[in-house]
Amino acid sequence: MPDILKWGNSPAGRIAYVNGRYLPHAQAGVHIEDRGLQLGDGIYEVTNVIGGKPIDEEPHLDRMERSLREIGVAMPMSRESLKLVMREVIARNRIANGLLYLQVTRGAARRDHVPPKTPLKPTLILTMRTQDMAALKTRMEKGVAVATAPDLRWKRCDIKTVQLLPNLLAKQAAKAKGAYEAWLVDDDGYVTEGGSTNAWIVDQAGTVVTRDLSNAILPGVTRRIILDAIREAGLEVAERKFTVAQAQKAREAFLSSATGAAVPVVMIDGVKIGEGFPGALSRRIHDLYARKAGIKS
Ligand code: PDD
Repeated sequence: MPDILKWGNSPAGRIAYVNGRYLPHAQAGVHIEDRGLQLGDGIYEVTNVIGGKPIDEEPHLDRMERSLREIGVAMPMSRESLKLVMREVIARNRIANGLLYLQVTRGAARRDHVPPKTPLKPTLILTMRTQDMAALKTRMEKGVAVATAPDLRWKRCDIKTVQLLPNLLAKQAAKAKGAYEAWLVDDDGYVTEGGSTNAWIVDQAGTVVTRDLSNAILPGVTRRIILDAIREAGLEVAERKFTVAQAQKAREAFLSSATGAAVPVVMIDGVKIGEGFPGALSRRIHDLYARKAGIKS
């Protein structure tokens, strides 16, 4: 067993990377006029880490580059250097299975909505934390409830920005209703995605359905890999919109994200999905994803 797997949770305390330095969490920080802090002027990524390795690393870095391009901020370092920093953060935290968080903001400057003409030095932050594997296992076995909420976000949800206020308020409201995730609903009554996950159903015909890509949703990395995996397995799949009523009548439903692959949904706004238990297809899709992502052989 590699050493990293024996280490478990970090006995030495968590280590963060901020702008070239590895520091204990309590000592790590950014400038008070960092534009990420003051204006939400930044983007982020979250990757799952299994056995000390970042999962779906290249597509997460592809999306990071795209988000930065869309907001006109340069990558803070080359992709190869960033990969080294990611490995160093994983190693220094001594966490085999967890979540790696990467954030890039436009940098620190005297507060002004308009970014300075001369590009700032972007702020790069990486943190690592453990995943509650027992809680994840329970979610996989029992499934989760979702509660719908109006999608109050902006019109560029394809950018993985740190501006998450509408997402977190919807998730907070869902939690208050005893649900695990919020499904956001657009003005026409269609589900866009979850507060921090992509939304899927298996319709009455057995077709696996998730919303088509547009500025209305985040192009989930897990979503992409799941789509590839289920197409390769020969399952029926469609990228199209669905309403809340269609989701409530679905055979199965599930959520996807780096933090949980395919998590079964068993209730939507108090209405049971199927028999109210995780569906067989959701389980199979979880396994197909895990195999493709190199989590299971
Ligand atoms: N959230 N949609 C939204 C709005 C998200 O925030 C996320 C990810 C996803 C799923 O994307 P991916 O499969 O690439 O993780 C969809 C991360 C995990 C988070 O905010 O913590």
